[in-house]
Amino acid sequence: MTKRSCMWTVKFLLLSLSPITFFCTPLAGQTEIGREVAIRRHLQDGEEYKVSLKDLIEYGRKLFNAMWTSQEGAGRPLTKGTGAPVADTRNPLVFPRNFNRVSGPDTNSCSGCHNKPYVGGGGDIANNVFVLGQRFDFATFNQSAMVSTEAAVDEVGNSTTLQTIADSRKTIGMFGSGFIEMLARQITADLRTIRDATPAGGSSALLSKGISFGTISRKADGSWDISRVVGIAWLSLRSQGPNDPPTLIIRPFHQSGSVISLREFSNNAFNHHHGIQAEERFGVGVDADGDGYVNELTRADVSAVTIFQATLPPPGRVIDADSEIRAAVINGEEKFRKIGCVDCHIENLPLDNRGWIYAEPNPYNPRGNLRLGDAPTLTVDLTDPNLPAPRLRQVNGVVFLPSYTDFKMHDIKIGPADPNREPLDMNQPPGTPAFFAGNSKFITRRLWGIANQHSFGHHGLYTTMRESVLGHAGEAAASNDAFRALAKYDQDSIIEFLKSLQILASSAHSLCADQDGRDIECPPGVQP
Ligand code: HEC
Ligand code: HEC
Repeated sequence: MTKRSCMWTVKFLLLSLSPITFFCTPLAGQTEIGREVAIRRHLQDGEEYKVSLKDLIEYGRKLFNAMWTSQEGAGRPLTKGTGAPVADTRNPLVFPRNFNRVSGPDTNSCSGCHNKPYVGGGGDIANNVFVLGQRFDFATFNQSAMVSTEAAVDEVGNSTTLQTIADSRKTIGMFGSGFIEMLARQITADLRTIRDATPAGGSSALLSKGISFGTISRKADGSWDISRVVGIAWLSLRSQGPNDPPTLIIRPFHQSGSVISLREFSNNAFNHHHGIQAEERFGVGVDADGDGYVNELTRADVSAVTIFQATLPPPGRVIDADSEIRAAVINGEEKFRKIGCVDCHIENLPLDNRGWIYAEPNPYNPRGNLRLGDAPTLTVDLTDPNLPAPRLRQVNGVVFLPSYTDFKMHDIKIGPADPNREPLDMNQPPGTPAFFAGNSKFITRRLWGIANQHSFGHHGLYTTMRESVLGHAGEAAASNDAFRALAKYDQDSIIEFLKSLQILASSAHSLCADQDGRDIECPPGVQP
Protein backbone atom coordinates (compact mmCIF):
# COMPACT_ATOMS: atom_id res chain seq x y z
CA MET A 1 0.00 0.00 0.00
CA THR A 2 1.27 3.45 -0.75
CA LYS A 3 1.72 6.30 1.60
CA ARG A 4 -1.01 8.19 -0.15
CA SER A 5 -3.63 5.49 0.33
CA CYS A 6 -2.77 5.22 3.97
CA MET A 7 -3.08 8.95 4.55
CA TRP A 8 -6.30 8.97 2.63
CA THR A 9 -7.60 6.31 4.95
CA VAL A 10 -6.79 8.53 7.90
CA LYS A 11 -8.68 11.47 6.44
CA PHE A 12 -11.52 9.15 5.65
CA LEU A 13 -11.52 7.98 9.26
CA LEU A 14 -11.72 11.49 10.59
CA LEU A 15 -14.70 12.22 8.41
CA SER A 16 -16.47 8.95 8.92
CA LEU A 17 -17.12 9.46 12.64
CA SER A 18 -17.20 5.72 13.01
CA PRO A 19 -14.85 4.60 15.77
CA ILE A 20 -14.78 1.03 14.50
CA THR A 21 -13.19 1.50 11.12
CA PHE A 22 -10.25 -0.44 9.80
CA PHE A 23 -7.12 1.53 10.21
CA CYS A 24 -4.48 1.89 7.58
CA THR A 25 -6.00 -0.98 5.65
CA PRO A 26 -6.63 -1.24 1.93
CA LEU A 27 -9.06 1.24 0.45
CA ALA A 28 -12.58 0.26 -0.47
CA GLY A 29 -12.45 -2.13 -3.36
CA GLN A 30 -9.08 -3.57 -2.27
CA THR A 31 -9.04 -6.78 -0.30
CA GLU A 32 -7.02 -8.44 2.39
CA ILE A 33 -6.09 -11.19 -0.04
CA GLY A 34 -2.34 -11.35 -0.41
CA ARG A 35 -1.66 -8.78 2.28
CA GLU A 36 1.08 -9.85 4.75
CA VAL A 37 0.76 -8.02 8.06
CA ALA A 38 0.89 -8.91 11.76
CA ILE A 39 -1.92 -6.59 12.85
CA ARG A 40 -4.85 -6.38 10.49
CA ARG A 41 -6.80 -3.99 12.63
CA HIS A 42 -5.27 -1.59 15.11
CA LEU A 43 -7.04 -0.48 18.26
CA GLN A 44 -8.42 3.01 17.72
CA ASP A 45 -7.97 5.81 20.23
CA GLY A 46 -10.82 5.70 22.69
CA GLU A 47 -11.32 1.96 22.33
CA GLU A 48 -8.76 1.31 25.06
CA TYR A 49 -11.36 2.53 27.58
CA LYS A 50 -14.20 0.49 26.07
CA VAL A 51 -12.79 -2.99 25.58
CA SER A 52 -12.58 -5.29 28.60
CA LEU A 53 -9.32 -5.36 30.54
CA LYS A 54 -8.86 -8.97 29.46
CA ASP A 55 -9.19 -8.05 25.78
CA LEU A 56 -6.90 -5.04 26.20
CA ILE A 57 -4.19 -7.25 27.71
CA GLU A 58 -4.69 -9.89 25.01
CA TYR A 59 -4.37 -7.25 22.32
CA GLY A 60 -1.26 -5.84 24.05
CA ARG A 61 0.22 -9.35 24.03
CA LYS A 62 -0.56 -9.60 20.33
CA LEU A 63 1.39 -6.39 19.67
CA PHE A 64 4.26 -7.71 21.80
CA ASN A 65 4.33 -10.91 19.72
CA ALA A 66 3.68 -9.22 16.38
CA MET A 67 6.15 -10.14 13.62
CA TRP A 68 6.07 -6.75 11.91
CA THR A 69 6.34 -6.57 8.14
CA SER A 70 7.24 -3.97 5.57
CA GLN A 71 3.55 -3.85 4.59
CA GLU A 72 2.58 -2.21 7.88
CA GLY A 73 5.51 0.11 8.54
CA ALA A 74 8.31 -2.14 9.79
CA GLY A 75 11.71 -0.64 9.03
CA ARG A 76 12.88 2.93 9.19
CA PRO A 77 14.64 3.94 5.96
CA LEU A 78 15.34 7.52 7.06
CA THR A 79 15.38 7.36 10.87
CA LYS A 80 17.94 6.03 13.34
CA GLY A 81 17.04 3.93 16.32
CA THR A 82 17.33 7.06 18.42
CA GLY A 83 14.49 8.62 16.43
CA ALA A 84 16.81 11.20 14.83
CA PRO A 85 17.08 11.40 11.03
CA VAL A 86 19.79 9.21 9.48
CA ALA A 87 23.07 11.01 8.88
CA ASP A 88 23.34 9.82 5.30
CA THR A 89 20.03 10.17 3.48
CA ARG A 90 21.58 8.92 0.23
CA ASN A 91 21.77 5.45 1.75
CA PRO A 92 18.38 4.78 3.30
CA LEU A 93 17.96 1.71 5.48
CA VAL A 94 16.12 -0.39 2.92
CA PHE A 95 16.83 -3.95 1.78
CA PRO A 96 19.51 -5.23 2.20
CA ARG A 97 20.24 -2.60 4.87
CA ASN A 98 16.83 -2.98 6.56
CA PHE A 99 18.22 -5.02 9.48
CA ASN A 100 21.48 -4.57 11.39
CA ARG A 101 22.21 -6.60 14.49
CA VAL A 102 24.17 -3.76 16.15
CA SER A 103 22.39 -0.53 15.22
CA GLY A 104 18.99 -2.03 14.49
CA PRO A 105 16.35 -2.67 13.37
CA ASP A 106 17.45 -5.99 14.83
CA THR A 107 14.38 -8.19 15.28
CA ASN A 108 10.86 -8.88 14.03
CA SER A 109 9.08 -8.78 17.41
CA CYS A 110 9.47 -7.79 21.05
CA SER A 111 9.05 -11.42 22.04
CA GLY A 112 11.90 -12.34 19.70
CA CYS A 113 14.08 -11.21 22.62
CA HIS A 114 11.78 -11.22 25.66
CA ASN A 115 10.84 -14.89 25.89
CA LYS A 116 12.54 -16.58 28.88
CA PRO A 117 10.95 -18.46 30.58
CA TYR A 118 8.04 -17.24 28.46
CA VAL A 119 6.82 -14.12 26.65
CA GLY A 120 7.50 -10.94 28.63
CA GLY A 121 10.58 -12.32 30.35
CA GLY A 122 14.30 -12.03 29.73
CA GLY A 123 16.38 -13.47 26.93
CA ASP A 124 19.22 -15.64 25.82
CA ILE A 125 22.55 -13.91 25.27
CA ALA A 126 21.82 -14.23 21.55
CA ASN A 127 19.20 -11.54 22.19
CA ASN A 128 21.52 -8.99 23.76
CA VAL A 129 20.98 -5.43 22.61
CA PHE A 130 23.96 -3.32 21.63
CA VAL A 131 22.63 -0.33 23.52
CA LEU A 132 23.71 2.99 21.94
CA GLY A 133 24.56 1.19 18.69
CA GLN A 134 21.34 2.80 17.45
CA ARG A 135 23.08 6.17 17.28
CA PHE A 136 24.59 4.94 14.00
CA ASP A 137 22.69 4.63 10.75
CA PHE A 138 24.16 1.23 9.98
CA ALA A 139 27.02 -0.04 12.11
CA THR A 140 29.84 -1.91 10.42
CA PHE A 141 33.29 -2.92 11.50
CA ASN A 142 34.84 -0.66 8.94
CA GLN A 143 35.69 2.46 10.84
CA SER A 144 36.26 4.70 7.84
CA ALA A 145 33.00 3.55 6.34
CA MET A 146 31.18 4.34 9.55
CA VAL A 147 32.70 7.77 9.77
CA SER A 148 32.18 8.81 6.19
CA THR A 149 29.11 7.16 4.82
CA GLU A 150 27.41 5.10 7.46
CA ALA A 151 26.78 7.58 10.17
CA ALA A 152 29.02 10.60 9.86
CA VAL A 153 30.01 9.65 13.36
CA ASP A 154 31.40 12.38 15.50
CA GLU A 155 33.01 10.04 17.89
CA VAL A 156 34.30 6.59 16.99
CA GLY A 157 37.43 5.75 18.93
CA ASN A 158 40.55 4.17 17.54
CA SER A 159 39.40 0.61 17.37
CA THR A 160 35.91 -0.08 16.15
CA THR A 161 34.83 -3.38 17.61
CA LEU A 162 31.56 -4.67 18.91
CA GLN A 163 33.02 -4.19 22.38
CA THR A 164 33.72 -0.49 21.92
CA ILE A 165 30.89 0.97 19.85
CA ALA A 166 28.00 -0.06 22.06
CA ASP A 167 27.09 -1.52 25.47
CA SER A 168 26.13 -5.16 25.13
CA ARG A 169 23.22 -5.65 27.53
CA LYS A 170 21.30 -8.75 28.30
CA THR A 171 17.54 -8.85 27.91
CA ILE A 172 15.75 -8.53 31.22
CA GLY A 173 12.08 -9.23 31.79
CA MET A 174 9.02 -7.21 32.73
CA PHE A 175 7.32 -9.57 35.20
CA GLY A 176 6.00 -7.46 38.09
CA SER A 177 7.06 -4.23 36.37
CA GLY A 178 3.71 -2.46 36.86
CA PHE A 179 4.37 -2.56 40.61
CA ILE A 180 7.94 -1.40 39.99
CA GLU A 181 6.86 1.61 37.94
CA MET A 182 4.31 2.61 40.60
CA LEU A 183 6.86 2.32 43.39
CA ALA A 184 9.30 4.49 41.41
CA ARG A 185 6.55 7.08 40.99
CA GLN A 186 5.95 7.15 44.75
CA ILE A 187 9.65 7.57 45.53
CA THR A 188 9.86 10.36 42.94
CA ALA A 189 6.87 12.15 44.51
CA ASP A 190 8.44 11.88 47.99
CA LEU A 191 11.80 13.22 46.82
CA ARG A 192 10.20 16.14 45.01
CA THR A 193 8.13 17.09 48.05
CA ILE A 194 11.32 17.15 50.13
CA ARG A 195 13.12 19.12 47.42
CA ASP A 196 10.34 21.71 47.17
CA ALA A 197 10.33 22.27 50.93
CA THR A 198 14.07 23.07 50.96
CA PRO A 199 14.54 26.81 51.58
CA ALA A 200 17.33 28.88 50.05
CA GLY A 201 20.39 28.35 52.23
CA GLY A 202 19.02 25.03 53.56
CA SER A 203 19.62 21.31 53.11
CA SER A 204 17.30 18.30 53.22
CA ALA A 205 17.86 14.58 53.54
CA LEU A 206 16.35 12.82 50.51
CA LEU A 207 14.67 9.88 52.18
CA SER A 208 11.81 7.78 50.85
CA LYS A 209 10.58 4.39 52.05
CA GLY A 210 13.67 4.15 54.22
CA ILE A 211 16.00 4.55 51.21
CA SER A 212 18.50 7.40 51.41
CA PHE A 213 19.36 9.33 48.26
CA GLY A 214 21.78 11.63 50.10
CA THR A 215 21.26 15.31 50.73
CA ILE A 216 20.07 18.13 48.52
CA SER A 217 21.07 21.69 49.31
CA ARG A 218 20.18 25.15 48.16
CA LYS A 219 22.58 28.04 48.16
CA ALA A 220 21.56 31.45 49.45
CA ASP A 221 20.98 32.65 45.86
CA GLY A 222 18.43 29.86 45.38
CA SER A 223 20.60 27.69 43.11
CA TRP A 224 20.76 23.95 43.81
CA ASP A 225 23.67 21.90 45.06
CA ILE A 226 23.43 18.23 44.11
CA SER A 227 26.97 17.27 45.05
CA ARG A 228 25.76 15.14 47.96
CA VAL A 229 22.84 13.49 46.15
CA VAL A 230 23.50 9.77 45.59
CA GLY A 231 21.99 6.92 43.57
CA ILE A 232 19.98 9.04 41.12
CA ALA A 233 20.66 8.96 37.38
CA TRP A 234 22.40 11.96 35.89
CA LEU A 235 19.47 12.47 33.51
CA SER A 236 17.37 13.38 36.55
CA LEU A 237 20.04 15.56 38.15
CA ARG A 238 21.24 17.71 35.27
CA SER A 239 20.34 21.36 35.26
CA GLN A 240 17.07 22.28 33.59
CA GLY A 241 17.96 25.97 33.52
CA PRO A 242 19.37 28.60 35.90
CA ASN A 243 18.02 27.96 39.40
CA ASP A 244 15.66 25.24 38.14
CA PRO A 245 15.68 22.28 40.48
CA PRO A 246 16.84 18.83 39.36
CA THR A 247 13.83 16.66 38.43
CA LEU A 248 14.89 13.83 40.81
CA ILE A 249 12.79 11.41 38.75
CA ILE A 250 13.53 7.78 39.58
CA ARG A 251 14.09 5.89 36.33
CA PRO A 252 13.60 2.20 37.04
CA PHE A 253 14.05 0.91 33.48
CA HIS A 254 17.24 0.09 31.54
CA GLN A 255 19.89 -1.41 33.77
CA SER A 256 21.60 1.97 33.58
CA GLY A 257 18.52 3.70 35.03
CA SER A 258 17.61 5.78 32.02
CA VAL A 259 13.91 5.33 31.34
CA ILE A 260 10.94 6.51 33.39
CA SER A 261 8.04 4.35 32.28
CA LEU A 262 7.08 1.16 30.46
CA ARG A 263 5.36 3.41 27.95
CA GLU A 264 8.49 5.46 27.25
CA PHE A 265 10.52 2.26 26.90
CA SER A 266 7.97 0.78 24.52
CA ASN A 267 7.93 3.86 22.29
CA ASN A 268 11.73 3.73 22.15
CA ALA A 269 11.83 -0.02 21.51
CA PHE A 270 9.23 -0.09 18.73
CA ASN A 271 11.22 2.46 16.76
CA HIS A 272 14.67 1.14 17.64
CA HIS A 273 14.13 -2.59 17.16
CA HIS A 274 11.37 -2.71 14.57
CA GLY A 275 11.06 0.67 12.87
CA ILE A 276 7.46 0.86 14.06
CA GLN A 277 6.64 4.42 15.04
CA ALA A 278 4.11 5.58 17.57
CA GLU A 279 1.88 8.53 16.75
CA GLU A 280 2.53 10.08 20.15
CA ARG A 281 6.27 10.14 19.42
CA PHE A 282 6.41 10.87 15.69
CA GLY A 283 3.08 12.59 15.00
CA VAL A 284 -0.27 11.76 13.45
CA GLY A 285 -0.20 11.53 9.68
CA VAL A 286 3.57 12.00 9.64
CA ASP A 287 5.84 9.58 7.80
CA ALA A 288 8.96 10.46 9.80
CA ASP A 289 10.94 7.41 8.69
CA GLY A 290 10.09 7.62 5.01
CA ASP A 291 8.74 4.08 4.70
CA GLY A 292 5.44 5.07 3.11
CA TYR A 293 3.37 4.40 6.22
CA VAL A 294 1.87 6.77 8.77
CA ASN A 295 0.15 6.13 12.11
CA GLU A 296 1.93 2.81 12.62
CA LEU A 297 0.99 2.63 16.30
CA THR A 298 -2.00 4.43 17.83
CA ARG A 299 -2.19 5.82 21.34
CA ALA A 300 -4.55 2.95 22.15
CA ASP A 301 -1.98 0.46 20.82
CA VAL A 302 0.77 1.85 23.05
CA SER A 303 -1.56 1.79 26.06
CA ALA A 304 -2.44 -1.84 25.35
CA VAL A 305 1.16 -3.02 25.04
CA THR A 306 2.05 -1.03 28.16
CA ILE A 307 -0.80 -2.52 30.19
CA PHE A 308 0.14 -6.00 28.96
CA GLN A 309 3.63 -5.51 30.40
CA ALA A 310 2.44 -3.77 33.58
CA THR A 311 0.09 -6.61 34.45
CA LEU A 312 2.57 -9.45 33.94
CA PRO A 313 2.52 -11.31 37.25
CA PRO A 314 5.23 -10.65 39.81
CA PRO A 315 7.83 -13.41 40.10
CA GLY A 316 7.63 -15.80 43.07
CA ARG A 317 9.59 -18.55 44.74
CA VAL A 318 10.30 -22.13 43.76
CA ILE A 319 10.84 -24.15 46.91
CA ASP A 320 11.97 -27.72 46.44
CA ALA A 321 10.17 -30.33 48.52
CA ASP A 322 13.52 -31.97 49.29
CA SER A 323 14.14 -31.08 52.93
CA GLU A 324 17.89 -30.55 52.48
CA ILE A 325 17.39 -28.06 49.65
CA ARG A 326 14.56 -26.36 51.50
CA ALA A 327 16.71 -25.91 54.60
CA ALA A 328 19.48 -24.41 52.47
CA VAL A 329 17.07 -21.93 50.83
CA ILE A 330 15.86 -20.76 54.24
CA ASN A 331 19.40 -20.57 55.61
CA GLY A 332 20.52 -18.70 52.49
CA GLU A 333 17.73 -16.15 52.82
CA GLU A 334 18.84 -15.50 56.39
CA LYS A 335 22.54 -15.22 55.50
CA PHE A 336 21.72 -12.95 52.53
CA ARG A 337 20.15 -10.62 55.08
CA LYS A 338 22.88 -11.03 57.65
CA ILE A 339 25.87 -10.18 55.46
CA GLY A 340 24.30 -7.01 54.08
CA CYS A 341 23.18 -8.02 50.60
CA VAL A 342 19.86 -6.45 51.63
CA ASP A 343 21.50 -3.04 52.03
CA CYS A 344 20.95 -2.74 48.28
CA HIS A 345 18.75 -5.71 47.42
CA ILE A 346 15.96 -4.60 49.81
CA GLU A 347 13.64 -7.50 50.52
CA ASN A 348 10.36 -5.66 50.85
CA LEU A 349 9.40 -2.16 49.83
CA PRO A 350 5.96 -0.75 50.60
CA LEU A 351 3.61 0.49 47.91
CA ASP A 352 1.00 2.47 49.80
CA ASN A 353 -1.72 5.09 49.28
CA ARG A 354 -3.37 2.92 46.64
CA GLY A 355 -0.20 3.00 44.57
CA TRP A 356 -1.21 -0.44 43.29
CA ILE A 357 -3.77 1.29 41.06
CA TYR A 358 -1.62 1.52 37.94
CA ALA A 359 -2.49 4.66 36.01
CA GLU A 360 -1.54 5.49 32.43
CA PRO A 361 0.15 7.84 31.65
CA ASN A 362 2.99 8.16 34.12
CA PRO A 363 2.90 11.79 35.40
CA TYR A 364 6.66 12.13 34.82
CA ASN A 365 6.69 10.99 31.19
CA PRO A 366 9.03 13.05 29.01
CA ARG A 367 7.85 14.74 25.81
CA GLY A 368 7.26 12.34 22.94
CA ASN A 369 5.16 10.08 25.14
CA LEU A 370 1.57 10.37 26.32
CA ARG A 371 1.49 12.80 29.25
CA LEU A 372 -1.01 13.71 31.93
CA GLY A 373 -3.93 15.57 30.42
CA ASP A 374 -3.32 14.31 26.87
CA ALA A 375 -6.00 11.65 27.27
CA PRO A 376 -8.29 10.36 30.00
CA THR A 377 -6.39 8.32 32.59
CA LEU A 378 -6.55 4.56 32.16
CA THR A 379 -6.36 2.68 35.45
CA VAL A 380 -5.81 -0.97 36.39
CA ASP A 381 -5.82 -2.40 39.90
CA LEU A 382 -2.63 -4.48 39.95
CA THR A 383 -3.98 -6.57 42.84
CA ASP A 384 -7.11 -7.57 40.86
CA PRO A 385 -7.38 -11.35 41.25
CA ASN A 386 -8.69 -11.59 37.69
CA LEU A 387 -5.33 -10.49 36.29
CA PRO A 388 -2.73 -13.07 35.30
CA ALA A 389 -1.75 -14.92 38.52
CA PRO A 390 -0.13 -14.95 40.97
CA ARG A 391 -0.81 -11.51 42.42
CA LEU A 392 0.58 -9.53 45.31
CA ARG A 393 -2.13 -8.61 47.81
CA GLN A 394 -2.62 -5.50 49.85
CA VAL A 395 -2.64 -5.95 53.58
CA ASN A 396 -3.81 -3.01 55.71
CA GLY A 397 -3.38 -0.59 52.84
CA VAL A 398 0.11 -1.66 51.83
CA VAL A 399 1.45 -3.97 49.12
CA PHE A 400 4.98 -5.16 49.90
CA LEU A 401 7.22 -5.79 46.89
CA PRO A 402 9.74 -8.61 47.30
CA SER A 403 11.72 -7.23 44.37
CA TYR A 404 15.14 -7.06 46.10
CA THR A 405 16.21 -3.62 44.91
CA ASP A 406 16.62 -0.11 46.30
CA PHE A 407 15.92 1.69 42.99
CA LYS A 408 19.36 3.27 43.27
CA MET A 409 22.32 3.39 40.94
CA HIS A 410 25.50 1.93 42.38
CA ASP A 411 29.07 1.60 41.22
CA ILE A 412 29.98 -1.93 42.22
CA LYS A 413 33.02 -2.11 39.95
CA ILE A 414 36.69 -1.95 40.81
CA GLY A 415 37.39 1.07 38.63
CA PRO A 416 38.42 1.53 34.99
CA ALA A 417 40.21 -1.82 34.87
CA ASP A 418 37.05 -3.77 35.73
CA PRO A 419 36.08 -6.03 32.83
CA ASN A 420 32.44 -5.45 33.83
CA ARG A 421 32.73 -1.81 32.91
CA GLU A 422 30.92 -0.66 29.77
CA PRO A 423 32.62 1.35 27.01
CA LEU A 424 29.97 4.09 26.91
CA ASP A 425 27.94 5.95 29.53
CA MET A 426 24.40 6.44 28.29
CA ASN A 427 23.72 8.70 31.25
CA GLN A 428 26.07 11.32 29.81
CA PRO A 429 25.74 13.58 26.77
CA PRO A 430 26.73 11.54 23.66
CA GLY A 431 30.09 12.43 22.22
CA THR A 432 31.44 14.02 25.42
CA PRO A 433 34.51 12.78 27.27
CA ALA A 434 32.21 11.67 30.11
CA PHE A 435 30.25 9.55 27.62
CA PHE A 436 33.45 7.84 26.44
CA ALA A 437 34.77 7.49 29.97
CA GLY A 438 32.45 4.50 30.20
CA ASN A 439 29.83 3.31 32.63
CA SER A 440 30.05 1.32 35.78
CA LYS A 441 26.82 2.43 37.45
CA PHE A 442 23.80 0.21 37.37
CA ILE A 443 20.51 0.06 39.21
CA THR A 444 20.58 -2.58 41.91
CA ARG A 445 19.31 -5.50 39.90
CA ARG A 446 15.89 -6.64 40.98
CA LEU A 447 16.49 -10.19 42.05
CA TRP A 448 12.89 -11.38 41.83
CA GLY A 449 12.70 -13.73 38.88
CA ILE A 450 16.47 -13.70 38.52
CA ALA A 451 17.07 -17.47 38.50
CA ASN A 452 15.20 -18.35 35.32
CA GLN A 453 16.29 -15.38 33.24
CA HIS A 454 19.78 -16.57 32.35
CA SER A 455 22.40 -15.45 31.75
CA PHE A 456 23.61 -13.01 34.42
CA GLY A 457 25.24 -9.63 34.84
CA HIS A 458 24.15 -6.56 32.88
CA HIS A 459 26.09 -8.01 29.95
CA GLY A 460 24.86 -11.58 30.32
CA LEU A 461 28.43 -12.91 30.27
CA TYR A 462 28.03 -14.90 33.46
CA THR A 463 26.40 -18.29 33.14
CA THR A 464 25.99 -18.61 36.92
CA MET A 465 24.72 -16.28 39.62
CA ARG A 466 27.75 -17.14 41.72
CA GLU A 467 30.00 -15.43 39.16
CA SER A 468 27.79 -12.33 39.45
CA VAL A 469 28.03 -12.30 43.22
CA LEU A 470 31.81 -12.76 43.14
CA GLY A 471 31.99 -9.90 40.60
CA HIS A 472 30.58 -7.40 43.14
CA ALA A 473 33.20 -4.83 44.18
CA GLY A 474 33.27 -1.06 44.73
CA GLU A 475 30.27 -0.05 46.82
CA ALA A 476 29.45 -3.73 47.36
CA ALA A 477 32.99 -4.73 48.37
CA ALA A 478 32.11 -5.24 52.02
CA SER A 479 29.24 -7.62 51.34
CA ASN A 480 31.34 -9.51 48.81
CA ASP A 481 34.10 -9.88 51.43
CA ALA A 482 31.46 -11.05 53.88
CA PHE A 483 30.22 -13.59 51.34
CA ARG A 484 33.73 -14.95 50.78
CA ALA A 485 34.25 -15.17 54.55
CA LEU A 486 31.18 -17.38 55.02
CA ALA A 487 31.45 -21.11 55.53
CA LYS A 488 31.05 -23.05 52.28
CA TYR A 489 27.61 -24.33 53.29
CA ASP A 490 26.40 -20.78 53.90
CA GLN A 491 27.76 -19.54 50.56
CA ASP A 492 26.05 -22.44 48.82
CA SER A 493 22.87 -21.67 50.76
CA ILE A 494 22.83 -18.11 49.41
CA ILE A 495 23.06 -19.54 45.91
CA GLU A 496 20.15 -21.92 46.71
CA PHE A 497 18.16 -18.92 47.92
CA LEU A 498 18.92 -17.05 44.68
CA LYS A 499 17.90 -20.15 42.70
CA SER A 500 14.47 -20.04 44.34
CA LEU A 501 13.72 -16.56 42.92
CA GLN A 502 11.85 -17.43 39.76
CA ILE A 503 9.16 -16.37 37.34
CA LEU A 504 6.51 -18.98 38.01
CA ALA A 505 4.71 -21.06 35.40
CA SER A 506 1.70 -19.34 33.86
CA SER A 507 -0.51 -21.90 35.62
CA ALA A 508 0.66 -20.78 39.11
CA HIS A 509 -1.74 -19.21 41.59
CA SER A 510 0.36 -19.09 44.74
CA LEU A 511 3.56 -17.02 45.00
CA CYS A 512 5.32 -20.22 46.03
CA ALA A 513 5.56 -23.36 43.92
CA ASP A 514 7.36 -26.67 44.26
CA GLN A 515 9.99 -27.96 41.83
CA ASP A 516 7.27 -29.35 39.56
CA GLY A 517 5.42 -26.04 39.38
CA ARG A 518 2.62 -27.05 41.77
CA ASP A 519 1.16 -24.33 44.03
CA ILE A 520 2.30 -24.58 47.65
CA GLU A 521 1.97 -22.42 50.75
CA CYS A 522 5.13 -20.38 51.28
CA PRO A 523 7.00 -22.17 54.10
CA PRO A 524 8.00 -20.23 57.22
CA GLY A 525 11.24 -18.29 56.67
CA VAL A 526 10.40 -17.77 53.01
CA GLN A 527 8.90 -14.52 51.91
CA PRO A 528 6.50 -13.50 50.42
C1 HEC B 1 16.91 -7.32 20.33
C2 HEC B 1 16.33 -7.73 21.58
C3 HEC B 1 15.18 -6.91 22.15
C4 HEC B 1 14.01 -6.58 21.53
C5 HEC B 1 13.57 -6.89 20.12
C6 HEC B 1 13.23 -5.86 22.50
N1 HEC B 1 13.90 -5.77 23.67
FE1 HEC B 1 13.24 -4.91 25.37
N2 HEC B 1 15.04 -5.19 26.22
C7 HEC B 1 16.10 -5.81 25.64
C8 HEC B 1 17.28 -5.63 26.47
C9 HEC B 1 18.68 -6.12 26.15
C10 HEC B 1 16.87 -4.91 27.59
C11 HEC B 1 17.75 -4.42 28.74
C12 HEC B 1 18.28 -3.08 28.31
C13 HEC B 1 19.17 -2.42 29.32
O1 HEC B 1 19.25 -2.85 30.44
O2 HEC B 1 19.78 -1.44 28.95
C14 HEC B 1 15.45 -4.65 27.40
C15 HEC B 1 14.69 -3.97 28.30
C16 HEC B 1 13.34 -3.69 28.13
C17 HEC B 1 12.53 -3.00 29.09
C18 HEC B 1 12.99 -2.49 30.44
C19 HEC B 1 13.12 -3.58 31.44
C20 HEC B 1 13.77 -3.09 32.71
O3 HEC B 1 13.36 -3.53 33.78
O4 HEC B 1 14.69 -2.26 32.66
C21 HEC B 1 11.28 -2.87 28.56
C22 HEC B 1 10.08 -2.23 29.19
C23 HEC B 1 11.33 -3.47 27.24
N3 HEC B 1 12.59 -3.97 27.02
C24 HEC B 1 10.26 -3.50 26.36
C25 HEC B 1 10.39 -3.94 25.05
C26 HEC B 1 9.33 -3.82 24.06
C27 HEC B 1 7.94 -3.25 24.31
C28 HEC B 1 9.81 -4.33 22.91
C29 HEC B 1 9.16 -4.39 21.55
C30 HEC B 1 8.70 -3.13 21.02
C31 HEC B 1 11.17 -4.76 23.17
N4 HEC B 1 11.49 -4.51 24.48
C32 HEC B 1 11.98 -5.34 22.22
C33 HEC B 1 16.08 -6.52 24.46
C34 HEC B 1 15.10 -6.40 23.50
C1 HEC C 1 26.10 -1.73 47.04
C2 HEC C 1 24.90 -2.37 46.56
C3 HEC C 1 24.87 -3.88 46.42
C4 HEC C 1 25.14 -4.83 47.38
C5 HEC C 1 25.55 -4.59 48.81
C6 HEC C 1 24.93 -6.10 46.75
N1 HEC C 1 24.54 -5.94 45.45
FE1 HEC C 1 24.04 -7.41 44.16
N2 HEC C 1 23.87 -6.04 42.68
C7 HEC C 1 24.02 -4.68 42.83
C8 HEC C 1 24.01 -4.06 41.51
C9 HEC C 1 24.17 -2.58 41.25
C10 HEC C 1 23.82 -5.09 40.59
C11 HEC C 1 23.79 -4.98 39.07
C12 HEC C 1 25.20 -5.17 38.63
C13 HEC C 1 25.37 -5.29 37.15
O1 HEC C 1 24.42 -5.53 36.45
O2 HEC C 1 26.51 -5.16 36.72
C14 HEC C 1 23.73 -6.32 41.36
C15 HEC C 1 23.54 -7.57 40.80
C16 HEC C 1 23.40 -8.74 41.52
C17 HEC C 1 23.15 -10.03 40.95
C18 HEC C 1 23.15 -10.30 39.48
C19 HEC C 1 21.98 -10.39 38.77
C20 HEC C 1 22.25 -10.12 37.33
O3 HEC C 1 21.94 -10.94 36.49
O4 HEC C 1 22.78 -9.05 37.03
C21 HEC C 1 23.11 -10.94 41.97
C22 HEC C 1 22.87 -12.42 41.85
C23 HEC C 1 23.37 -10.23 43.17
N3 HEC C 1 23.53 -8.88 42.86
C24 HEC C 1 23.47 -10.79 44.41
C25 HEC C 1 24.01 -10.13 45.51
C26 HEC C 1 24.40 -10.78 46.74
C27 HEC C 1 24.28 -12.26 47.01
C28 HEC C 1 24.87 -9.80 47.55
C29 HEC C 1 25.49 -9.97 48.92
C30 HEC C 1 26.67 -10.79 48.95
C31 HEC C 1 24.77 -8.55 46.85
N4 HEC C 1 24.26 -8.79 45.61
C32 HEC C 1 25.14 -7.32 47.37
C33 HEC C 1 24.17 -4.00 44.00
C34 HEC C 1 24.50 -4.59 45.21
